[in-house]
Amino acid sequence: MHLSRRLMFSLFCGVAAVSMAFAVFQVQAEMHVLRDEIQRQAIVLAESQQGATEQILATGSSRELQALVDQYRNRGHLAGMAVYDDGGNTLAITSGLASDLPAPPAAVSRAVQTGRGREDYFQSRGRRMHIFALPLSRDGRMMGAIAVFHDVAFIGAPVWRHALTGMVQTLLIVGVTLLIVHWSLGRPLRHMALWLRDLRTGAISGVSRPPKETIFRSLTSELTQLATSLHAARAAAEEEARLRDAGLSRWTAERLRIAVQGKLNGSRLFAVSNREPYEHVHRGNSIACSVPPSGLVTALEPVLRASDGTWVAQGTGDADRETADEFGRLRVPPEHPQYRLRRVWLSEEEEEGFYFGFANEGLWPLCHIAHTRPVFRTGDWEQYRSANRKFTAVLLDEMHGEKQPVVFAQDYHFALLPRMIKERRPDARIAIFWHIPWPNPEAFGICPWQRDLLDGMLGADLIGFHIQAHCNNFLETVDRALESRIDWEHFAVNRRDHLTTVRPFPISVAANGESRATPESSPEVRDLLHRELGGRPAFLGLGVDRVDYTKGIPERLRGIERLFELYPDYREKFTFIQIGAPSRTHIKRYQDLMAEVEQEVERINRKLRTGAWKPLVFVARHHSHAEVEAYYREADLCLVTSLHDGMNLVAKEYVAARHDERGMLILSRFTGASHELADALVVNPYDTDELAQTIHAALIMPAEEKRIRMQRMRAVVKEHNVYRWAGSLIGELAEIRLETGDLTQNGQRSREDAPVPAG
Ligand code: G6P
Repeated sequence: MHLSRRLMFSLFCGVAAVSMAFAVFQVQAEMHVLRDEIQRQAIVLAESQQGATEQILATGSSRELQALVDQYRNRGHLAGMAVYDDGGNTLAITSGLASDLPAPPAAVSRAVQTGRGREDYFQSRGRRMHIFALPLSRDGRMMGAIAVFHDVAFIGAPVWRHALTGMVQTLLIVGVTLLIVHWSLGRPLRHMALWLRDLRTGAISGVSRPPKETIFRSLTSELTQLATSLHAARAAAEEEARLRDAGLSRWTAERLRIAVQGKLNGSRLFAVSNREPYEHVHRGNSIACSVPPSGLVTALEPVLRASDGTWVAQGTGDADRETADEFGRLRVPPEHPQYRLRRVWLSEEEEEGFYFGFANEGLWPLCHIAHTRPVFRTGDWEQYRSANRKFTAVLLDEMHGEKQPVVFAQDYHFALLPRMIKERRPDARIAIFWHIPWPNPEAFGICPWQRDLLDGMLGADLIGFHIQAHCNNFLETVDRALESRIDWEHFAVNRRDHLTTVRPFPISVAANGESRATPESSPEVRDLLHRELGGRPAFLGLGVDRVDYTKGIPERLRGIERLFELYPDYREKFTFIQIGAPSRTHIKRYQDLMAEVEQEVERINRKLRTGAWKPLVFVARHHSHAEVEAYYREADLCLVTSLHDGMNLVAKEYVAARHDERGMLILSRFTGASHELADALVVNPYDTDELAQTIHAALIMPAEEKRIRMQRMRAVVKEHNVYRWAGSLIGELAEIRLETGDLTQNGQRSREDAPVPAG
């Protein structure tokens, strides 16, 4: 490392100034101490001889006096002693000293005059001397003075010597500092420079990690963020350029962000869902933050980022309260905060009635028609209403002071919320997206509170479903149950002078389109296969679901059992892995289903297994998105056999994960996804034989045909990705307002501006 001259110069000057200041201070202090010491010695000596000298002066001879002063000849720094009479004349002086002295020294005269000890410094022949004179008296009569002389030339060495010492000290300190800097900072800085270059260029020079020294920790964490954003921006720009070049207009996270920014025109977005995007949980002594595997976070984050919006959701993690402020607010994503999460706290009783009860034992089976009977309890309905009110209150609080806010409610948990918001904030533009199917009016009509639910939803300006059939079912339900006018031409409902548009927006996955080389099979998958089967079978089938009765898991297992009956040759060659994430396990129906799946797997395996091989592997735990991807890439076919599903994102995730354009998707015709993925092998999951034959057809299908089908499905998923979903929905919501012009005084759209409903 080359330290700059400027750094060296500053270091040198700094150290020199400090060491000089120190040297001056030290010299001053030392001189002070030495002077005190000489003074003390002189006083002690003079006082010790005072009495004897007075005696000699009174009665003794001059010889005795001379002998007394000569005792102190050449004793280190003591130069000698002298005795003076009261006129200042020298009576006796240490031999050899006389020639050096002024006669009489001023201190002697002052001591005689004042009758007290006096000291002084003077120059004698170029040497600095110290004198202490003590008066001599007898019977109150002044007789003269005794003086003690010290040579004090040694006190206060020449300045140049101090400067030299300071300079040497400075050089030593600067040298040692430079060495330390070189060793402790130079190497890590060089390391960091290489690492940064790799991050910037994407090159690999073997420096894949930042320096680990703690001093750099905050710097490396910031730089990692910066590099990640840079990469993302570069990838987005490259993707845009590639798409422009190919004449395509694909939606990306960046395009969504920019589009939404334009559409919202300064309004803030408020998303509301039951599941939160970031959940904090205690893990041992620390707190971990997890993101639910739902695609909603992928879709809504760019939108919330674009408007610095707020996501309101139920706080469900056991460390959620301590990671938010007193109002349940925190900025997310945790590593790069860009929007606000506001957590809503529900009591156990509220969650029981609202979430488990009305939403999941009532509305969920009601809308799916999967032969699980909906349960409607008045208590649950009351909790559902009160939870909707609670979320509404929180939203209103968050929206306070915001002009024309945009509210985007998610799913069947919040059917009443749009009306509740609209009544208080007529200036808010509100959309609700219903992520599950909407059944026909007869089926929906069994709900005792169907009118309240429909009226609540019709508080929104826009209602989204996955497919047109669900929109039609909804409009027919409204037509039968409520007083309103349906505009079948524009798919809109006019109720109480408020217009609600109903549109299909098929949700999707990110599918950002980059083509990664298929990696080696994942260690987790390999381990599982090795542990369970002793190795990979010739054909691998896969199912990935929440363990939910709408997913048709038992039907799927029976289809596989039938495959082995019809084609026994697949024994020891084909194995099916079912990944089942336990879900809503508080509800008995879900507990029963888990037990049923486990029993079915057990029964079929017991019947068919040979040696180390078995037909079914059931992994009942939650997997992260990355873990599931590894399974997707390994599987020769993926089975989605829902009895009814709004969309089913597993189908799209599987297709998006197959960068190698291999694998085959078998897809239930009762999923929303089957409307888009025409190249999947579409099945009726209730038809066990058809299912078995379709699996067989997929296994024997020529590789080329599979490749073409997968290519076409991938094109569909890439084009209709989740960014397009969010972009179209928010765009449509913004358009509605623009088309219909100003609001009337109570905030609702004026009748003249609203499209005229047909009929
Ligand atoms: C479906 C629903 C979502 C729900 C998800 C997971 O996709 O439409 O609203 O979040 O299932 O269910 P859970 O009850 O665990 O949130």
